[in-house]
Amino acid sequence: MRTTLLDLRRMKKAGRRIPMLTAYDYASAKIADRAGVPMLLVGDSLGMVVQGHDSTLPVSLDDMVRHAAAVVRGAESALVVGDLPFLTYTSKDDAIAAARRLMQEGGVQAVKLEGGRHVVPIVQHLVQFGVPVMAHLGFTPQSQHQLGVRVQAKEAACAKRLLEDALALEAAGAFALVLELVPAPLAEAVSKRLRIPTIGIGAGAGCDGQVQVWHDLLGLFETSPRHAKRYAEIGAAIETAIRAYAADVEGERFPTKAQSAGMDADELARALA
Ligand code: KIV
Repeated sequence: MRTTLLDLRRMKKAGRRIPMLTAYDYASAKIADRAGVPMLLVGDSLGMVVQGHDSTLPVSLDDMVRHAAAVVRGAESALVVGDLPFLTYTSKDDAIAAARRLMQEGGVQAVKLEGGRHVVPIVQHLVQFGVPVMAHLGFTPQSQHQLGVRVQAKEAACAKRLLEDALALEAAGAFALVLELVPAPLAEAVSKRLRIPTIGIGAGAGCDGQVQVWHDLLGLFETSPRHAKRYAEIGAAIETAIRAYAADVEGERFPTKAQSAGMDADELARALA
């Protein structure tokens, strides 16, 4: 059974933390789903960790739809949320068109968009038409050139604004709220004031759930952001495996008979005659 919005509400009510992880392809979605992660995010962070850009801005709706479809094919039980890319939700019509593609072609069960009260009418509009919306406050990567990659809302006025934005997004119908790079005490206070679950990333332990980027969690790159904990060193493991493979090819130890098909000697002789 796939996780539902109601399940997430119930988890918050019961004080059960919600683990969320990004996924960008079929294999990673299958593994995360098997591990029991209840919610996957096809994040536009794919622009950085999959495509090698220095921000999420170049990610297109076509990119999102293609990756979302692969993730959905791999995820039987997790609720799959897809990011609406940069500038695809500046009007209600654009937002509907983008959400339609992500849900109908990509197959996601919900979309995520960034921003505070200025996106409230968009959230309301999407929700009215049946699109579950996850909101995103704090450091919002699509505004990285305005904000800088740093902890947000450290001063009282900004913190107050973030709380008001969170309440407005909840009232607009968002089913959950990502809090990224927000001081832990503020994130905890916001989480206590909201009925919908908060999902933190670099926002401390007081959020109702946590989201991490696949590559950060698994150590795919040499470094990870401060807020990430490396649960494995998969990048190093892959490098070791590839070095061993290359050395075996160079040393003529791969392939062996075990990886090869034989042929009747007479058949071969006739073919070569
Ligand atoms: O794109 C993404 O991966 C995200 C998470 C960092 C929350 O938005």
